Amino acid sequence: MRCVEIAEFGPPEGLRLVERPTPEPAAGEVLIDVHAAGVNRPDVIQRYGKYAPPPGASDIPGLEIAGTILAVGPGVTRWQVGDAVCALVSGGGYADRCVAPAGQCLPVPRGCSMVEAAALPETFFTVWTNVFERGHLQPGQWLFLHGGSSGIGTTAIQLAAARGAHVAATAGSEEKCEACRRLGATHAWNYKTEDWVARVREVTGGRGADVVLDMVGGDYTARNLDALAVEGRLVQIAFLKSAQVTLDLSQVMRRRLWVTGSTLRPRSIEEKTALAQVIEREVWPLIESGRVGPVIDQVRPLAEAAEAHRRMEAGLHIGKIVLDARV
Ligand SMILES: NC(=O)c1ccc[n+]([C@@H]2O[C@H](COP(=O)([O-])OP(=O)(O)OC[C@H]3O[C@@H](n4cnc5c(N)ncnc54)[C@H](OP(=O)(O)O)[C@@H]3O)[C@@H](O)[C@H]2O)c1
Repeated sequence: MRCVEIAEFGPPEGLRLVERPTPEPAAGEVLIDVHAAGVNRPDVIQRYGKYAPPPGASDIPGLEIAGTILAVGPGVTRWQVGDAVCALVSGGGYADRCVAPAGQCLPVPRGCSMVEAAALPETFFTVWTNVFERGHLQPGQWLFLHGGSSGIGTTAIQLAAARGAHVAATAGSEEKCEACRRLGATHAWNYKTEDWVARVREVTGGRGADVVLDMVGGDYTARNLDALAVEGRLVQIAFLKSAQVTLDLSQVMRRRLWVTGSTLRPRSIEEKTALAQVIEREVWPLIESGRVGPVIDQVRPLAEAAEAHRRMEAGLHIGKIVLDARV
């Protein structure tokens, strides 16, 4: 098979297109003829050598794919050769062949292309489990998030708005803020120029947000707590600035706040399978009715994975960059 490996940790030039033996599907797995693979920030962090694949996972980057099933391993009953699926994988996505646990595959939603389907699993699983399961966001409540124009952000804005929540976001330019508003955020502010704690308090009538979804950490953490309502939930999914933070615990106690977070990749196949089932039930109908969907920034050939990473690191993208494994 053709795949992109991390030949050297560091800058994007370390990504190399190589040939490797095609993997065999083990019991409970399927082999997928990959049409497209989504690019995510964790792939960039892995390329720097700072996000090792969990034990047993492929060292090839790529956490999500879409394509058709080429072979099924023993014990797989739901899928057959030729089925069109998208899948959440723990690695191996930057390739034209990839194995996936059968339970982490979902049918390509009606109306979605393979490119669009490849852009779904990583962000939709992450947003669902963090915003709705950990953050317990309810209709009528306020979600405030950073990185509104990111793959995660564009998904969170649409899903929260579609489920009846109010959404406010930050992003790094007016163009990105406008994209957030188009997707359903009633407010979007440039974090480089705006006092977003004050803005959140203003638009919520002084109350604060019910859920803050953060990927920045560092000095944002204390401000995120300031932006929360009583009983509010801070959900941490990354720490682009720093994981080491100073917290005023009296705030947490006085306003009965919750600080939580999670990371998707190391969770067990059983947990991800259960998540896939909930997402197919709760989210797939929203995608098929056109109410939510992936925002595709660019599609590039698999061989141009390094270019895709450069674009992501330069912050030029809005939504998702996808690799086409067929060219
Ligand atoms: N926990 C999990 O399971 C999980 C799963 C997937 C992804 N993630 C994390 O989620 C984040 C987003 O992933 P992605 O693939 O969607 O990546 P992405 O599109 O590259 O998004 C990164 C975002 O971070 C924003 N950002 C960077 N510095 C910021 C700052 N100082 N203040 C506010 N925003 C800032 C950027 O905003 P601007 O471009 O506007 O500056 C950009 O929108 C990544 O950190 C990734 O590691 C976590």
